[in-house]
Amino acid sequence: MTDIATPNAFVAPDPASTAHATGISDPKMTARNVNVFYGAKQAINDVSIDVDMDNVTAFIGPSGCGKSTFLRTLNRMNDTVASARVSGEIRLDGEDIYASDMDVVQLRARVGMVFQKPNPFPKSIFENVAYGPRIHGLAAAKSELDAIVEKSLRRAGLWDEVKDRLSDSGTALSGGQQQRLCIARAIAVDPEVILMDEPCSALDPIATAKIEELIHELRGRYAMVIVTHNMQQAARVSQKTAFFHLGHLVEYGDTSDIFTNPREERTKDYITGRYG
Ligand SMILES: Nc1ncnc2c1ncn2[C@@H]1O[C@H](COP(=O)(O)OP(=O)(O)OP(=O)(O)O)[C@@H](O)[C@H]1O
Ligand SMILES: [Mg+2]
Repeated sequence: MTDIATPNAFVAPDPASTAHATGISDPKMTARNVNVFYGAKQAINDVSIDVDMDNVTAFIGPSGCGKSTFLRTLNRMNDTVASARVSGEIRLDGEDIYASDMDVVQLRARVGMVFQKPNPFPKSIFENVAYGPRIHGLAAAKSELDAIVEKSLRRAGLWDEVKDRLSDSGTALSGGQQQRLCIARAIAVDPEVILMDEPCSALDPIATAKIEELIHELRGRYAMVIVTHNMQQAARVSQKTAFFHLGHLVEYGDTSDIFTNPREERTKDYITGRYG
C-alpha cells in the first residue's frame, strides 16, 4: 500500500526559503534562495526577500555580514567583480534579471545605485545629470534634456542650490550636495528602484538630514533600499528592515517590529548594541 495523501503534482512551497519574504502583496523585486560566492568563499546564504514600491527597506547588520554584496545582486553590480558568482533567482516586476537576454545597462538604469562615497563624474553639474538620459536616448532635443536635468535636480532637492552654476564641476560641490547630485543622476534615467549603500556615512548631520528628508519625499515614487550602520537612521527612514548576520537573512519585517519586538535573539543583540 502506498501513501498518496499528497498528490505528486502538488509541491508545497518550502516554508524555510520563503519565510522572510512575507507581507508584501505586489513586490517590485523578489529574491529567492540567493547565494553569492567570492571564489570558494560564500558571502550570502539562501536569502529570500521581497522589496516593494511603497516602503523603504533598510538592510542592517554588522560589518562584513553581506549587506553590500546582497544589495549589489539586485542590479547585477556583482557582475563587475571577477570572483563573484550568484545563484538563485531575482526578479524585477516578475522578470528574471539574471536571464541571458537581460540588458545589464538597461537594468542598471531601472535599478539605480548610490554609493557610500559620493562619486560624481569629473564633469559639470549639468553633464553629471544629462549623461544617463543622453546615452539612454531619453531626450530628443536639448530642451527636453534641460527639462530632465531640472526635474531630476529638483527631485533630488538640489536645484535651488545649483541652478545658477550648472556648468561648474560636480566635484566642486560639498559632500552632501555631491550625494544629492548622485541621486539626481540616478533619478534622471527614470529608475524604478534606487539602491543606496550607506549613502550618508561620509556626510555631516545636516547633510544626512537632507538625504533622509529626500528619501521620505521620494518614497512611493521609487522602490528604495538603503544599507545603513546607523540604527536610528534605519528607524527614521524605513518601513521594512532586514537584519543580516554572517551572510544570512536573520529577520525581515516591519521596522517598528524589528526595533521594538524582534523575534530573533541575534536581532535583539544587534539592535541593543551587543555586537556590530
Ligand atoms: N570583492 C570581494 N572579493 C572577495 N570577498 C569579498 C568582496 N567583497 C566582499 N567580500 C566579502 O564578503 C563578505 C561580505 O562583505 P560585504 O561587503 O557585502 O559586507 P557588508 O555587510 O556590506 O559590510 P560593511 O558593513 O563593512 O560594508 C565579507 O566577508 C567580505 O570580506
Ligand atoms: Mg557594505
